[in-house]
Amino acid sequence: MGDRRTLSRLSTWIVLVLGVLVVATIAGEPPKTIRIIYTNDTLGYIEPCGCGGRRAGGLPRRAVLISQLKNENPQCVIVESGNLTNMPDRLGLIASILAELGYDAVGVGETDIRTCGEEFYKKAAEAKLTVIDPSPGAPKSAVPYLIKNVAGVRIGIVSFGFGLRLSDQDEYERRKALYSAYTEARRKSDVLIVLDQSNTVTNEWIESNEGRFGAPDIVIGGVMQRTLMEDKVIGKTHIVPTSIQGRDVGVVDLEIIPGQSLKFSVRKMPVDESIAEDTAVKKRVEEFMGKIRQTPTYARATTEPQVTVGQGSAKYYPPLLCKACHASEYEQWESTKHAKAVATLTAQQRAIPECLKCHSEMFRRLQRLTLTSGAPAGVDCMTCHEKSLPHGLERKESPIRVKVDTKICLECHDKEWSPNYNEKTYLPKISHGPKPTQTSATPTSQPAPPPVKSQNPSIESRPPAPPPSPIPQAGN
Ligand code: HEC
Ligand code: HEC
Ligand code: HEC
Ligand code: HEC
Repeated sequence: MGDRRTLSRLSTWIVLVLGVLVVATIAGEPPKTIRIIYTNDTLGYIEPCGCGGRRAGGLPRRAVLISQLKNENPQCVIVESGNLTNMPDRLGLIASILAELGYDAVGVGETDIRTCGEEFYKKAAEAKLTVIDPSPGAPKSAVPYLIKNVAGVRIGIVSFGFGLRLSDQDEYERRKALYSAYTEARRKSDVLIVLDQSNTVTNEWIESNEGRFGAPDIVIGGVMQRTLMEDKVIGKTHIVPTSIQGRDVGVVDLEIIPGQSLKFSVRKMPVDESIAEDTAVKKRVEEFMGKIRQTPTYARATTEPQVTVGQGSAKYYPPLLCKACHASEYEQWESTKHAKAVATLTAQQRAIPECLKCHSEMFRRLQRLTLTSGAPAGVDCMTCHEKSLPHGLERKESPIRVKVDTKICLECHDKEWSPNYNEKTYLPKISHGPKPTQTSATPTSQPAPPPVKSQNPSIESRPPAPPPSPIPQAGN
């Protein structure tokens, strides 16, 4: 009895004395600033990317920006929340460059797993880049969480990203592992960062879990948060603005003043032309791009002119088909940038699906691209005239005249890729020039009055018109 009381009194004293000591040391310390440098969704962009003159990103510039940020404050943590790549070929290069730039850890994104699978973990491990993945299926090279001691402050990093797919029965196990990693990291850290590619941490999540597990301090999500202009604060949690394709680097400067709550200063820094390129990193990127110079399989070249092709319900009528009856429109089109849109990409070794989806009509329709040598390829007749097709010479007698709806321009000329787009200046550049006698001012899909016969040039007087047959309705 007595023993126990002495013991408890003693422990009270110990706690008190320790407490005073701790308070004394903390109070004596000057405020600290710790810097968290973050990126997300690099998505394979090792070079700068972008259209319409806003070229941003690329690892050579990122290298320079990150080293500047590190020089300003060496007390830092560097992370990427995930989705390093959507092309497995460049994963090794990205992982090794990030490791060299001093990244402490990366999270896992859905695209990493979907496109690279286990290779993701393997290549990262080879590059000595730490992957955070608490899910039970993760290879041993990944860690469930990381605690980094920066100037005496324990920074914890966990990832709510995606892991290798497990069967549904394992979902419970997965969540258990995730939350146990989270709880442990929260307990062991002064500042907790969640790499949140799965967009788990929301208002509701914080409300319902704060009490049980404790809320995180910083949440670095995926592309979903790229529209944020500044950090979104929920209680004590800061959800920070993100980026896409490595176009920005995020910075969180944390001021830690003893006895006060953390002070945040968050900003997104564009990786634009104003930033120099690191020559060593640039050399590696260029060497890699040189190696993949050969045309990818989805852009096979052929010398045979293509005819109508179709897969299932997808149909595509190549411009050469229209040329036979619409030579002057074809010629005008050939002189526009639309006809060079695929060449623009091949010149940059970027004939890849994510760029072709706007730069090639054939790819848009068929999910593949076959190039006919000598023939231009890009945004073409079918992009704008789908509603007129298919047809042939019978059209001459037909009253149907379909006007192009200029809303379709916005499918590709959006704010991000074509910031200077303006219908007034853009439309004249692509129109085929005046046609002397045509009534072209008909509303969308509205049949116009039948054209006066005598005003139409006769079929016979048309320039070259080889296939005098209508375009086949079905594929092949
Ligand atoms: C066999 C000849 C022939 C072929 C091939 C052909 N057209 Fe036509 N097209 C016509 C005729 C005839 C008209 C009627 C107007 C005229 O005489 O110019 C017409 C009219 C049009 C018009 C005017 C608006 C409308 O909807 O009627 C568009 C646009 C058009 N064609 C686009 C195309 C495109 C795109 C292709 C290729 C995919 C194509 N045409 C292939 C014969 C052809
Ligand atoms: C399928 C996507 C797509 C659609 C739809 C589209 N464009 Fe384009 N457009 C492009 C691409 C890609 C380029 C750049 C090609 C290049 O330079 O390689 C471009 C370039 C242009 C240019 C050249 C800009 C310059 O600086 O000279 C003009 C003008 C233009 N488009 C107008 C239009 C208009 C008007 C429409 C609608 C009637 C339209 N586009 C519809 C994809 C599209
Ligand atoms: C959402 C549709 C879209 C996607 C996706 C897209 N582009 Fe473009 N791109 C355009 C449009 C529209 C233009 C014309 C911009 C203008 O002149 O206003 C263009 C123009 C360009 C140009 C010429 C103008 C310039 O900036 O020099 C290049 C080069 C280019 N794109 C490269 C790419 C690459 C590389 C990709 C893939 C990473 C890509 N684009 C993906 C729509 C797209
Ligand atoms: C970027 C969009 C765009 C592309 C690409 C395009 N056109 Fe057009 N085309 C137009 C517009 C806009 C008009 C003006 C009439 C209208 O509003 O329908 C037009 C009109 C026409 C007409 C009717 C001319 C008349 O006198 O009424 C024909 C025929 C035609 N285009 C054929 C073609 C052919 C063939 C190609 C491919 C080689 C092509 N177009 C590519 C936008 C386009």
